[in-house]
Formats: sequence, C-alpha cells, structure tokens
Amino acid sequence: MRILLVASAFNSLTQRVFVELRDRGHLVGVQLAQAPDDDALRAAVRRHAPDLILAPMLKSAIPADLWSAHTCLIVHPGPIGDRGPSSLDWALHEGARQWGVTVLQADAVMDGGDVWATEPCTVPAGVAKSDLYRGEISDAAVRAVLLAVDRVAGGTYVPQRQADLAAVGRTRPYFDQSLRRIDWQRDSTAQVLRALRGADSQPGVADELCGAEWFLHGGHPEGQLRGRPGELLATRAGAVCRATADGAVWIPELRARRRPGGPPGVKLPAATALGALLPELPETADGPDIAYREDGPVGVLRFAFPGGAMSTDQCRRLLAAYRLACTRPTSVLVLGGDRDFFSNGIHLNVIEAADDPAEESWANIQAMDDLVEAVLTTTDRLTVAALGGNAAAGGAMLALAADEVWCRSGVVLNPHYRLMGLYGSEYWTYTLPRRVGTGAARRLTEEALPVGATGAQHLGLVDRIVESAPADFAADVRSLAARLAALPALQERIAAKKARLERDAALKPLAAHREEELARMHAIFFDPQAPYHALRRAFVRKHPLTRNPDHLDALPRTLVRSASR
Ligand code: COA
Repeated sequence: MRILLVASAFNSLTQRVFVELRDRGHLVGVQLAQAPDDDALRAAVRRHAPDLILAPMLKSAIPADLWSAHTCLIVHPGPIGDRGPSSLDWALHEGARQWGVTVLQADAVMDGGDVWATEPCTVPAGVAKSDLYRGEISDAAVRAVLLAVDRVAGGTYVPQRQADLAAVGRTRPYFDQSLRRIDWQRDSTAQVLRALRGADSQPGVADELCGAEWFLHGGHPEGQLRGRPGELLATRAGAVCRATADGAVWIPELRARRRPGGPPGVKLPAATALGALLPELPETADGPDIAYREDGPVGVLRFAFPGGAMSTDQCRRLLAAYRLACTRPTSVLVLGGDRDFFSNGIHLNVIEAADDPAEESWANIQAMDDLVEAVLTTTDRLTVAALGGNAAAGGAMLALAADEVWCRSGVVLNPHYRLMGLYGSEYWTYTLPRRVGTGAARRLTEEALPVGATGAQHLGLVDRIVESAPADFAADVRSLAARLAALPALQERIAAKKARLERDAALKPLAAHREEELARMHAIFFDPQAPYHALRRAFVRKHPLTRNPDHLDALPRTLVRSASR
C-alpha cells in the first residue's frame, strides 16, 4: 500500500513504524506536520497520493478536508475510551499496571473516532514515561498498526464505534505542572519518584533548588543516605541526591526554567547545571548509570545514560569500568543489555552549554573514540553489544566495535551522522564497511534513514535478534551469553578475531582510521560556519521545523523497496 506517515517529529515511534511498514513492502512517505501549516500537509498528500494516512505521533489535528477524503488513522497511546493529550502521564500518575494502544480513525472528536485495532501492554513498576513509550508502548503500537494496516488493505473490515465497544469514553485534560508538584517536606520517596518518572523525559517537574528555578528530570531511589527533607545530601556522577520525607532520591538532570523572553533551558547533568550554586557536598561511589555483574564466565557491563547521550565524563567513566571488567577472568563480556537507549553518541547538550563548544566536542569525541578503541582491541575474550533500545550516530558505531551485536526486536538503528552535519568518528570507517560492505555503508550514511532490527540483520549490522519484551531483555541476554560462553569453539573464535584484527591492521592500522576521521571532525568542530553548530543548537534547543527534512522528502514515491534490499 501507499502509506503517508504524518507526525510532529520523526521520533522513535514514527521511525519504528516507518521501518516495520517498509520491511513489509509498503511504499512509505513521511511528512512532518508543523501546525498550523496544513497546506504543506495537503501538498504532501497530493504528491504521495496515499491509500492510507497514518499518524504515529501527531500533536496537532489533521484538517477535516483530509480526513473526510482519505482514510486517516491516529495512533493513541491509551486503551479504548481513553482520550486526551497526556495519556501516559495519567497512566503513571494513577499507577496503572496495564495500559494499551489504540488505532483510531481521525474524525471531528479528538481520539473519539472508530477503532481499527487495539493492543494491550503491561506497565512495569518503576518505569519512566519515555522509557515506557519507547518500550512496551512502542511494541503494542506496532502490533496495533500492523493489524490496522492489514484490515485497511483487506478492504472488508468495518471499524468499530467506540460506543459499541462498551468503553466509557473519558477525555482527561493536559497533565500540567500543578499536578506534578513535589512537597519535599511531606512527600515520601515513592511519591517523589512517581512524580519524577511521570515527567521524564519531558516536561520534567518544576521546582526550586539552590535558590534557582528548574525542571527536575529523572529519578532513582537512594538506599542509605538520609537528611532533612528537601536538603541536598551528596553528588554522584553528575547527579544530586535530595532528601525526601522518608528517604532520599537521586536526580540526574536539571533544566533551567525559561525566563520571560529568554531562550529555553538546556537539560544537563544536575551538578553541571547547578555549577557555582552547588554547595560543598560529598561525592559518593559510582552508579546507577554504570554497573558490572558477573555470572561465571560472563561479565555484563550495563550502562544507561539519559537520552543515550554520552558526555566526556560519562565516556571516561565507562572506559574505566570497561578496563576493570577486562581484568576479570571472563570469556564473554556483554556491553549494555539494559532496556531503552543503548547510546546516541556524544552529549550534544553538554557541548552546547560548554564555554567553548568546539573544544568540548573535540574532548567528547576523543573520549568516545578511546572507549570504542578499547572494545575493538579486546582480543582475549568475546565482546557482545546488547541493545535493548535504540542506538544512533556514534552510539550505533560503538555497538559495531563489539564482536557480536544483539538487539531486541523493537530496536531502531540510525548508523549515520549526516543529520548533525558530522563526518563521524568512532572508527566507523573501519567497522561499518567491515560489517556491511562499502556500498551499503555509503548508502546508510548518505540516506540517513533508520534501520529496524530485521533490516539490520539482513544487512549484517546485527547478528542476533532477541525477541524479548523490554522488561525481559536483560535476563534473556544473560542466558544467551552463558550459552555463548559454553560453546566448545569459543576459544577458536577469540583466536580468529584476534587474527582478523591483525590482518586488517596490517592493511590499514586502526590509528590511521582514527586520525583520518578525527581530522575531518576537527575541521568541522573548529569551523564556526560549519552547519554542525547550527544543527546542534536547533536539536538541543528544540527549534521547531520550518519544512519537511530533505532526506524524508527524498523518499521514493513510486518504487517499492524494503530495508532488506
Ligand atoms: N546528545 C544529547 N541529547 C540527546 C542526544 C545526544 N547525542 N541524543 C538524544 N538526546 C536526547 C534528546 O534531546 C531527547 O531529549 P528529551 O527527552 O529531553 O526531549 C532524548 O535524548 C530522546 O531523544 P529523542 O530525539 O526524543 O528520541 P528519539 O528516539 O525520538 O530519536 C535520535 C533518537 C537518536 C534519532 C535523536 O535523538 C538524534 O538524532 N540524536 C542525535 C544523535 C547524534 O547526532 N549524535 C551526535 C553525533 S555522535
């Protein structure tokens, strides 16, 4: 079918729907709709002539002339009957353990149209909103979308009226800051964490800290530290620990609240954001963003950075943990293995907020390269990159440094840098062609389109797809790694990869790849006119799009092709 995706952003869910539909042979166009520019949308519909318009994540309404002339389906992240713009916020606020996704026909009542498909999902305890969205909700949404698309294609299915499904429709209002407010004197750790997780990653919880106004982002429980409610108790790897009425929580990131007329704040590691405002506090040991565990011959180095972004400091801490893991007597070392983002490369927010963004970009890319080099040159054990969530740019290339790449079936990869105006580093000029060949490497980096798990496996980017629910991925990876470690041929494989690395290095040393890539990156970072600076600023400051991006406009409109070409 000819399907036009209409979305407010080419975000994780839109990308996933895009790759899943393309992998099934549909001809998929993408139009990013910036209300109120309905004319651009109308023009895209005329150009694409779709059989179906599908909105995986749309914050504005589709104009009536479009939904009355075409079948337009809306993905709503809630069960049948749920309506309104803050479904997941309400679900987490009310402690729902079951939720769902419904595909509705667009009509005059927002979220009130006929139902084409609905799929349930679980809500794991303690999950943050955006993690839920990229995990269980994304899985349910894809199931519902594929079912709805099949039903539309079949031509005989009659969508059901919501009223006939005996669901009580209820429209819940926008979940605003008044509902998120934390009373540090009275609220328990559980209440504080619920507020923080329901607001993560956006919009955060509006609050005061050290005499300034912030949005608080993210939250983890603290086991031992205690203090006067509301007081800051410690720092740890850039996060701050704050006492609640009955315990304490870690807050990893802060974003300054916008002053009237001022620019929007940038989300930063809490200690960096507070800067000179931060009082003298004890720094406690590492975690919870990096953790190592060992089960016999298998080591697992888990890391989880907000938004998948890795600052200079985070890269260095992860490298130190990686080196330590390499001193352990294991034969398989798994990197990652957690739910949500694997990595999205260098930390563009920290770079943007630095006194000298060019210098910080340079420091960050070298710290990233040092980490990738350590993985690439590990020759005494097998390394596995286990992607429970998406990876992009340098983060995708970090995965390719490992001997095997495993990914959860719902993962979307973006193995390219072009959209950020970068040439790229992380030894990609070695690892990407090594895996997919030079032609595919060129196409992936030039087209700058996402690749789903199945397409990635066909291309050779990924070795194993793990069909797990997000919550089961870590345990499933551990048992697969144990099986790998028990293979009789393991030592032979380790010897073979060492030999290959030596052969490859004889043709072109790793250092030469690094030097050439970094020379290109240096030229970009230190050229104030390079598009990278404006693109980074627009990304970090979340500038609205002014038009459909070129790489999406360039999608073929007549040729059916799939990601597994
Ligand atoms: N640096 C800083 N923040 C980053 C980041 C990076 N490299 N990559 C992602 N993030 C943040 C986003 O700003 C967003 O923050 P928010 O939750 O506060 O809005 C969050 O992580 C999730 O990203 P989002 O864009 O909403 O997720 P997505 O799954 O829809 O899209 C990407 C993922 C990877 C396509 C997109 O985030 C992206 O293009 N990132 C930049 C990748 C890059 O160019 N890296 C640098 C070169 S190595």
